[in-house]
Amino acid sequence: MPQDRAAALAEIAEEIKQCTKCALYKGTTNAVPGAGNIHAEIMFIGEGPGFHEDKQGLPFVGRSGDYLNYLLKLIGLDREQVFITNVVKHRPPENRDPLPDEIIACKPYLDKQIELIDPLVIATLGRFSMARYFPNGKISQIHGQPLYDDNRAYYPFFHPAAALRNPGLRSDMEADFKRLLEVIEKVREMRAGGSGPSGNGDSGGGPANDTPPEQLRLL
Ligand code: URA
Repeated sequence: MPQDRAAALAEIAEEIKQCTKCALYKGTTNAVPGAGNIHAEIMFIGEGPGFHEDKQGLPFVGRSGDYLNYLLKLIGLDREQVFITNVVKHRPPENRDPLPDEIIACKPYLDKQIELIDPLVIATLGRFSMARYFPNGKISQIHGQPLYDDNRAYYPFFHPAAALRNPGLRSDMEADFKRLLEVIEKVREMRAGGSGPSGNGDSGGGPANDTPPEQLRLL
């Protein structure tokens, strides 16, 4: 019998908490599997947990998270409507960049989360998640340009921390965010056209908020 989405995601979160496939787990306080609405239409993928995320076991709860919350609010969304995770699920020491073998070791978890949640839009935050879909992309050139493929949009954003460090990026970041609802709408139309996957219809209790999202309507 197929497992329901919530149970399957809870199982992945448990595996992540026990994971020793790379050395990143050493010296961490908590794994950070991801959090949010398991029926989300938008999945944000960042880089890896930082200090506060490691302490709380939740993604984007430090300064970058505050800015992400601000950006979501700009377009009338909140964290309960989206799912947020990272390419690596344990904090790299001193917040260094994740290494290629660490990203590869963690990839099956992220692949499975994407498969189960089946978001309309995968919004990448920064270069490491961007590289999954735009291997030769340069963030400064391709941010805010959605790629539509297989009834989904891949939408690259600067990392919130980059926009905090460099205030000159914020107007682009905010303009890119404001186009997110149009991108969702376009994928909805593509899926309604019936040419591809339309989401897993299952439901159930789980590790995250499992309330089906309101349809995220354009104003
Ligand atoms: N930066 C990330 O990329 N992910 C987090 O969860 C927090 C900060």
